[in-house]
Formats: sequence, C-alpha cells, structure tokens
Amino acid sequence: MAGMSERDASAALWEIHSRSEAETIAFGQRLGALLSAGDLVLLFAPFGAGKTHLTKGIGMAFGVDAADINSPSFVLINEYEADRAHQRIPIYHVDLYRIETPEELATVGLDDVLAGHGLAVIEWAERAAAWLPHEHLAIFMQHTGATERLIRLAPHGARYEGIVAALRAAAALFPNTTSSRPSERGLE
Ligand SMILES: Nc1ncnc2c1ncn2[C@@H]1O[C@H](COP(=O)(O)OP(=O)(O)O)[C@@H](O)[C@H]1O
Ligand SMILES: [Mg+2]
Repeated sequence: MAGMSERDASAALWEIHSRSEAETIAFGQRLGALLSAGDLVLLFAPFGAGKTHLTKGIGMAFGVDAADINSPSFVLINEYEADRAHQRIPIYHVDLYRIETPEELATVGLDDVLAGHGLAVIEWAERAAAWLPHEHLAIFMQHTGATERLIRLAPHGARYEGIVAALRAAAALFPNTTSSRPSERGLE
C-alpha cells in the first residue's frame, strides 16, 4: 500500500492538461463556481501561458462578460462586478508584471483587493510573493505544446485544499463531462 500513502501525501496538489484556449476557459469556469468573496487566486506563469484566459473563465462563473476581461496593459487592477445571482461581489483582476520594487507595489492599491470584500485573481503574483497572504490558491501554468498547457494547483490553507479536493472529485466522478483530463500523478 506504499502507493496509497504516496498519493495521500500529494492529495492536496492537482494538475490538469488543457488542450485548447477553450479548455482553459472552461476549467476557469469550473474553478470559479467554487470561489467566493474573500478568496485569493495567485497565477504564476510566463507570457502566453493562459493566465488571462483562465481569469476569463473565472469571471464567467460570476456572470462577467469574458470579452471585458483582458490583460490590463497600463491599469494594474481591473475591477468587475459579479451579477445579481452572485451578490454583485467585486472581482479584482490584478496584473503585477510591471512591478519592480516594493515601493511600486505599495502604490498599486493591493490593500483594497485583499480586504476580503471580493474575489482576487493576481497575474504575475511572483512580483509580490513576500507581501501576499499565506492562505491562497497558487496556480502554475506552463506551455507543453502550441495549444497545450499544464495547469498545476497548489492550495495553501484548508479553504483552498477543499476547493482543489472538490475539483478532483468532480473530475473523477464525471470524467466524460470535464473537458480536461485530470492527471492522477502526484506532483512532488
Ligand atoms: N490551452 C491553452 N490555454 C490557454 N491559452 C492558450 C491555449 N492554447 C493556446 N492559447 C493561446 O495562448 C495565449 C494565452 O494568452 P493569455 O491568456 O493572455 O496568457 P497570459 O495572461 O498568461 O500572458 C492566447 O493567445 C491563447 O489563444
Ligand atoms: Mg495576462
């Protein structure tokens, strides 16, 4: 039963393979359906890995028009409003790519984003790693092909472990209704 305990040890971590932009958006929607105000999602990935498309999916789960969700070029923080069914909570979409110093970070307005009134999704979170709350869902994305991406989820804290467990359980129960095939491999 060594295999069982190995799997238990990595139970909190999970990865999926996306084979298209649409699959990444669909995964964002499934994740978004489990998120609520006060949650924090940190995205760690290079250019073009799909951070913004994943965020589009998350926003769609709250009734936000995906066309409105784009990489904020000069605006570091975009704020959207969830629809009525989702209590019109604020959805903060942050892109920290341009941040180079702690002084710059201090001017961005992250305090509002992290105050807990809304859902926060932060691209280029590595720019602020030391300043962000320990409790969060970290998502790592990487290119594995022209239209393929590996998406790894690392929950930090019980709240996010529960969310990842729910995603895993849904994928295991309904493998044919999930557009991305989950890997059952442990990650570490
Ligand atoms: N499986 C995939 N998931 C997400 N994006 C993909 C995928 N395959 C190709 N793409 C393309 O990669 C780019 C991702 O862009 P974007 O979401 O803005 O990335 P990032 O925000 O990480 O820089 C888009 O042009 C998208 O069409
Ligand atoms: Mg982006």
